[in-house]
Amino acid sequence: MTSSADIFDPAHYRKACAPALEAEMLPPWCYTAPEFYAREVERIFRKTWNFVGRADEIQKPGDYRVFDLVGESVIVLRDKAGAIRAFANNCRHRGTRLLSGSGNCRAIACPYHAWVYDLDGCLISSLGMEEAVGFDPAQYGLVPVRVESWEGFLFIAFDAAAPPLSVHLGDLPQRFAAYNFADMVCVRRKEYDLACNWKIYVENAMEDYHTPTVHRKSIGLQKTVLEAGKTGEWDAVFMPSPRTIAVLAEDLDQALPQIAGLAGKPADGTFFTVIYPCTFFATTQDCMWFLQEFPQGPGRTKVVIGSCFPRATVARPDFALKVEAYYKRWDKALPEDNAISERQQAGLASSLARAGRLSGHEPAVHRIGNWVLDRVLDDTAAKGAQ
Ligand code: FES
Ligand SMILES: [Fe+2]
Repeated sequence: MTSSADIFDPAHYRKACAPALEAEMLPPWCYTAPEFYAREVERIFRKTWNFVGRADEIQKPGDYRVFDLVGESVIVLRDKAGAIRAFANNCRHRGTRLLSGSGNCRAIACPYHAWVYDLDGCLISSLGMEEAVGFDPAQYGLVPVRVESWEGFLFIAFDAAAPPLSVHLGDLPQRFAAYNFADMVCVRRKEYDLACNWKIYVENAMEDYHTPTVHRKSIGLQKTVLEAGKTGEWDAVFMPSPRTIAVLAEDLDQALPQIAGLAGKPADGTFFTVIYPCTFFATTQDCMWFLQEFPQGPGRTKVVIGSCFPRATVARPDFALKVEAYYKRWDKALPEDNAISERQQAGLASSLARAGRLSGHEPAVHRIGNWVLDRVLDDTAAKGAQ
């Protein structure tokens, strides 16, 4: 471990920035040091788009969900006109946290002195403020947070200067159009509170090297290839396969129908995709599942897995029965990833830990590390070593 004073010196990262097959992983402190994490929060999470779930999860006016990430709490809701909005989750009177979890509300009432906000954020009741001189309720609406959507995927940005979501996504929407995500619904979400850095979790999700060992008793070996020639802040690996990989081999008779109209490469296998910094989703022939990572600190991440199917599939009479085979697969494989991620974090927390070399199975791990370094280092001089 280097001293905190020079932790951002590009000289420490020359091996991480070397070409993939010559490269080492990021130095261990990138996963454990509070200073490194603080830099990521400042230069990544506060600057760019963060995935906060699916629009179909807040379907009716008044449906809301609260998201806590990098020290912020944000309410995402559907207003009375059907529009999706996001607000800072604190009262404009004296700052109290307003909502938690998820639910439905007709208005947002503060539990402290009962100020009430409409679903568009306007302050509509502030009883007791009559004597306050020159108090104008119109000046004390909820603080809005930018929210944009792509085919039902909702993203928020804390930075007013962040380019539009469409710029962040590049050509991802065109490449994935065949999946028709806008028509999908999230039928189950499950949360895990993990003792690992957010990068550990994304890196694991994007490499196949671990599959024959970690997933020996579940999904087994997977062979993936990095997608080339894309534009935008994302990466994907593709696993050719003639059928869905969202059920275990023993449950293939429970497989649900393919996504209607699926054609081209999406019909021939599975994509594992990261939208930087840490939105992961997998798309196979019949469904999509996403992993949201909400960083809580250098060694703590809340992970949410959401299971999404086309509306027509969900409407089938046999859906409730057959989806159990999918849940079985996710409930088997994901805890395997969770456990190994926490175990890697524990190892990297040692002062004796050293960066290791990457294999040919881990091009995305290299790209994730370099994407982060491009943003957190003071300059990119380390790249000059390539
Ligand atoms: S802090 Fe919300 S009403 Fe006082
Ligand atoms: Fe895995």
